[in-house]
Amino acid sequence: MVSAESRHIASATGKLGVLIPGLGAVSTTFIAGVEMIRKGLTLPYGSVSQMQTIRLGRRDEKRSPNIADFVPLAKLNDLMFFAWDIFPENAYEAAKKARVLTNEDLEKVRAELEAVTPMKAVFDQRFVKKLHGTHVKTGKTKHELAEQLREDIRQCRKKVSRLVMVWCASTEAYIERQAVHETVEGFERGLRENHDAISPSMIYAYAALMEGIPFVNGSPQLTVDIPALVELAKRKKVPIAGKDFKTGQTLIKTALAPAFKARMLGVRGWFSTNILGNRDGEVLDDPESLKSKIVSKSGPVEWILQPSVYPQLYKDLYHKVTINYYPPKGDDKEGWDHIDLFGWMGYPMQLKIDFLCKDSILAAPVVLDLALFTDLAQRAGMTGIQEWLSFYFKSPAHAENVYPEHDLFIQHAKLKNTLRWLMGEETITHLGVDYYQE
Ligand SMILES: NC(=O)c1ccc[n+]([C@@H]2O[C@H](COP(=O)([O-])OP(=O)(O)OC[C@H]3O[C@@H](n4cnc5c(N)ncnc54)[C@H](O)[C@@H]3O)[C@@H](O)[C@H]2O)c1
Repeated sequence: MVSAESRHIASATGKLGVLIPGLGAVSTTFIAGVEMIRKGLTLPYGSVSQMQTIRLGRRDEKRSPNIADFVPLAKLNDLMFFAWDIFPENAYEAAKKARVLTNEDLEKVRAELEAVTPMKAVFDQRFVKKLHGTHVKTGKTKHELAEQLREDIRQCRKKVSRLVMVWCASTEAYIERQAVHETVEGFERGLRENHDAISPSMIYAYAALMEGIPFVNGSPQLTVDIPALVELAKRKKVPIAGKDFKTGQTLIKTALAPAFKARMLGVRGWFSTNILGNRDGEVLDDPESLKSKIVSKSGPVEWILQPSVYPQLYKDLYHKVTINYYPPKGDDKEGWDHIDLFGWMGYPMQLKIDFLCKDSILAAPVVLDLALFTDLAQRAGMTGIQEWLSFYFKSPAHAENVYPEHDLFIQHAKLKNTLRWLMGEETITHLGVDYYQE
């Protein structure tokens, strides 16, 4: 156990602006939910920052405050929303189109949603082939576009005390790390020379960091996960986090895989398939965007099971992930998992999971927690990659010299321990005894 002095954390007074590239299913569901909670019409289901307790000290001390009372987070009443999109529809119209929430619910927060109108986006169709944006900025160079975004951010800042940016826009085409991504100077040269390997999400991230604003990447493409922007975040003393919200199938997989490993059960095969019919699904119907997602969804199981440490159990694991666009499903994604396990004497068993989930319903509280926790990190002077937020990501960003932590329960413990450490409480390294019950 380690105890620490509590860190100085600047106060959370004043408004917190959430800057959101992408006014689609996830972000409109997030905004509508926050507005409903403010009106007392629902509760923040799924939000760890709002609903969970945190045990402090030994179990017999019986101290388990709510996280929201323990750490100085921005209040939901202090949130304001700003967005960019390649279509001009306001959040109410976009939410209607996304068809996640019922018309009845949307009417209850209609005025608040209508007040969120998107700014013109930075867009390049080479990165999202399936969409044809009309509400987009023009500029001779990517650097000029970044400057326009910075000006947007400065305008938003006039209305609030602090800002965070959470990328909720479409998944971009897969690209690998290249020379232009290696240094801040090379990246800035690339912006001026319109380098092909600088995607719109990187331009938003660059603009945010230059303005000293935390950046969270909810999608699977690289974005801030490149040395140039990691370095820029350090120089500007800004927290960054990513990538790809962990919401449905991967959430379940990163809870199950640790259970198999904990009981030394072997896994021969793990087949995961998804069908979804929202716009996210349509974007993923393009093979290049799909590759970003598949890469992100494929990593966690191997990292958790450690086939090199447990070759008898996992070296022959055949892991396959597929995603299929099927319009009738809308946002009601269906994720199937078929797992071939083996146990004592090598006898085979099967486990089948059919998760009938709602993608944006799972993602919205994740957006909320990430906005609040990165703002907290900023006020606590925590800069660069926030590995303690790995809990929320399919493909958690990590320092070059360590492996990414995918195990949901270790991620959860790390999240809570970081909160304890921030407030000068003892960290609790033994898992499974985190919850004190009356
Ligand atoms: N819902 C989930 O469970 C989940 C989980 C992990 C990741 N994500 C990611 O979150 C993102 C949003 O998902 P969604 O279901 O809301 O998708 P969506 O298609 O409903 O919304 C994305 C929005 O981004 C806009 N857009 C595209 N490019 C843009 C740009 N350059 N600038 C500004 N706006 C842009 C689109 O017009 C659209 O309105 C996707 O990248 C998705 O992969 C979602």
